[in-house]
Amino acid sequence: MSQIGTLADPLDILGRLLAFDGKQNPYPLYEEMRAHGPLADLDGAHFFVTGYTECARALREPDLLSTDAAVQDLRLPGWREHSSWRWLTKNMLFSNDPDHERLRRFFGTAFSARSVAGLRPMVERLADDAVEHVAGLGADGAVVDLVPEFSYRFATSVIGELLGIPPERQPGLRGIIGDITTALDPIGDLRQLEPGDAAMDRLAEYFYELVARRRADPGPDLTSSFIRARDESDDITDEDLVANLMLLLVAAAEAPQDLLSNTVRLAIEHPEHAARLRADQGTAPGFVDETLRYDPAVQALNRVAARDLEFFGATVRAGVPVTLLIAAGNRDPRRFADPGRFDPARTDNQPLTLSAGAHYCLGAALARMSAETVVPKLLRRLPGLALAEPPTFRDQLVQRGHDRLPVTTG
Ligand code: HEM
Repeated sequence: MSQIGTLADPLDILGRLLAFDGKQNPYPLYEEMRAHGPLADLDGAHFFVTGYTECARALREPDLLSTDAAVQDLRLPGWREHSSWRWLTKNMLFSNDPDHERLRRFFGTAFSARSVAGLRPMVERLADDAVEHVAGLGADGAVVDLVPEFSYRFATSVIGELLGIPPERQPGLRGIIGDITTALDPIGDLRQLEPGDAAMDRLAEYFYELVARRRADPGPDLTSSFIRARDESDDITDEDLVANLMLLLVAAAEAPQDLLSNTVRLAIEHPEHAARLRADQGTAPGFVDETLRYDPAVQALNRVAARDLEFFGATVRAGVPVTLLIAAGNRDPRRFADPGRFDPARTDNQPLTLSAGAHYCLGAALARMSAETVVPKLLRRLPGLALAEPPTFRDQLVQRGHDRLPVTTG
């Protein structure tokens, strides 16, 4: 049976979590929230979940829905005037069955473990390019910001090549992708969505053009094969196609960018673990998993109860939001020994960062393989890599990651 918190304190913690300083280091605030038990209850109007087991169960609970259009009608009146959320609710992540199942089936096989294993030579080649790019920029002692020059550049080169986005277009998409992810943070005022709206309109225009070009002149990329499958089966519309191509680009650029930046920073901060990673490629999966657990690129996920349900001793009424603080779940002392310690040798890690259940990250195998490939290569090529200034984090909570990561390459 869980302890249920009182109204005032969790609200105060939330206020501090949403302030700029809270977003720079949210972890002590999650511990304050955990003091209210694994489920903090805001008078039955909203639940915040900090327990690992409770988050893992919630992600697999079919009656806890993702934020689809019907849920947004309840939670964010006026959202239909905003193209960011109009497009988001057309993708699989912000859909529930039957749409979710239909879309996931259509796009899923391209990212299966088997398909991803076949992408290894491409990932190796792009990783070598990314590492040489950083080495070139950092020669002669110049400071290099790894966020745009390594993490974003590499992550986007992988998904860009897969989707057929030419390399010269990839750097220009960075601001657009970043603005779209701000629409995922808690919304106090609908005007907060305006940068995401403008970015989404530009990206939709780009993908409509790409689809038209590839339909006329197909290539070896996934966009061309999705168009072929769509034109043969009628399972999805062109709008579904564009919405989910946008999801694939944004999901495969931003969170992997943040994972890569965090992995490199943690290697620099823990030279003993970095030495092991350089010497033994077999330690890479453990290092990446521990980075996902310790400093997750995605900190929170939202669900809404489809009906009244009993959840770990609490009654969650239909329509009530349940926010899963998965970054807190990853540091639950009931699940992880010494959770505040970065320990890449942990066994049975299974962080919540890639979700679970119906919406389990479609790109998990690709994200892991990409990070396990490129980070050890960078550390081996540049053994003198060092922080040039303290790194900063963006003013974002849900999709949290470094704003800048300035290094010298030794
Ligand atoms: C570090 C890297 C990544 C992280 C931390 C991450 C995280 C997540 C999370 C937490 C979810 C589920 C959200 C929820 O349950 O509400 C998700 C879903 C998804 N991710 Fe990832 N992701 C990463 C990389 C990728 C990559 C590389 C791709 C694309 C190839 C991708 C594509 C997707 C898609 C399409 C979904 C929606 C799946 C569905 O709704 O069924 N992700 N990701």
